[in-house]
Amino acid sequence: MAIILGIESSCDDTSASIFIDGKISSNVIANQLVHQHYGGVVPELASRVHQQNIVPAVHEAISIAKIHKNDIDAIAFTRGPGLLGSLLVGTSFAKGFALANSLPLIEVNHMQAHILAHFIDEDKPEFPFLCLTVSGGHTQIVLVRNYFDMEVIGQTLDDAAGEAFDKTAKILGLPYPGGPLIDRYAQSGNPGAFKFPEPQIPGLDFSFSGLKTSILYFVRDRLKEDPEFLNQNLADICASVQGRIISILLNKLTKAARQHQIRHIAIAGGVSANSGLRKALEAMADENNWKVFIPKFEYCTDNAAMIAMAGYFKYLNKEFTGQNVAPLSRMPF
Ligand code: KG4
Ligand code: ZN
Repeated sequence: MAIILGIESSCDDTSASIFIDGKISSNVIANQLVHQHYGGVVPELASRVHQQNIVPAVHEAISIAKIHKNDIDAIAFTRGPGLLGSLLVGTSFAKGFALANSLPLIEVNHMQAHILAHFIDEDKPEFPFLCLTVSGGHTQIVLVRNYFDMEVIGQTLDDAAGEAFDKTAKILGLPYPGGPLIDRYAQSGNPGAFKFPEPQIPGLDFSFSGLKTSILYFVRDRLKEDPEFLNQNLADICASVQGRIISILLNKLTKAARQHQIRHIAIAGGVSANSGLRKALEAMADENNWKVFIPKFEYCTDNAAMIAMAGYFKYLNKEFTGQNVAPLSRMPF
C-alpha cells in the first residue's frame, strides 16, 4: 500500500490531497477570492496567499484522510507549468516536507496531471486516447499513448479557451473568473441569437483572439445604439459566445479523432466543467460512436488529487526527483 501526498499551487488554487492505494481520500482546495477585485489573477498576491494557505490545506487533507503524517510514503508536487511565484511555494513546501520526513519527492507536470485525473475513478479511458485539455492557460489536443507518453497534436496559437471565456466576461462587465458565470447565464439564453466568426486555422491548432476582438466590437457598437443592450441580452450573448467556443473546440477534436482513428475521447482542465461543452460532447459521442470521458467537477479545475494520482504512477516506476529541483513556468511534456 502506498500513501501519496499531492500538492498543487500552479495558479490561484492551493490544494492538498491524500491518495491511499488506488483511491483519493481527501482533496482540499483553498480558492483565492482576492483576485476578483482585479479582474484576473495577480501573480504577486497569488504567491502570498499560497504561502498562507498551504500548511492549513495539508493539515486538513491529512485529517480528512484520517492518517498520520508519518504514514505518508511520498510527496508529489506540481513543478510546472504555471506562475513561477505560485509554483515556488508548492515546490519549496514539498522539498521541506520530504527532507524533514525522509520521503521521496515526485515532480508532476500540471497539464499531464489534468489528463491523468481520468484514472482517479472507475471508468478509465483505454490507450491510445485523445484528450482535449482546456484551461485558463492552455488549449491542447493531446494524443495519450500511455501514462507519460503524451504528444500535443494541436494547440492554441494565441489565447486559451478559458481566457476566451474570462476575457468575454470582462467585456460583459462580469467578475473574474468569468467562465462559470457565462456558463450559468448561457443556460437560459439562445445560442443562435448572435453570430460570432469561426477562425479558419489550418490543421489541429486553435485561435481565440479574433473571437475576443469581434465580441469587443460587437458589444461596443450595440451599446452605442442602445445603452440597455447588455442588460437585456446578457443570456443570449453568453449562450452565443459559449456556443462558438464549443464549436471551435469540438470541430478540431472531431478532425483529430478522424485523423488518428481514435474513439476514446476525454476532456480535462477548468473549461471541461462547462455544462454546454459536456452536453455537446455527449451528443457527439452518440453521433460518432465515441466513448467519452468527462471528469467529475472537482477534478476539472485545479486540484491536488490529480497531482497525487500522477505522482502515484511515478511512484510505482520509482521516478523520484532530487532536492535541487526548481519550478518551471513552462514545462513541455
Ligand atoms: O484548469 P484551471 O482551473 O486553471 C488553469 O490551470 O488555468 O482552469 C481555469 C479556467 C478559467 O479560465 C475559468 O474561467 C474556466 O477554467 N472555467 C470555466 C468553467 N469553470 C471554470 N469555463 C467555462 N465554463 C465553466 N463552467
Ligand atoms: Zn489547470
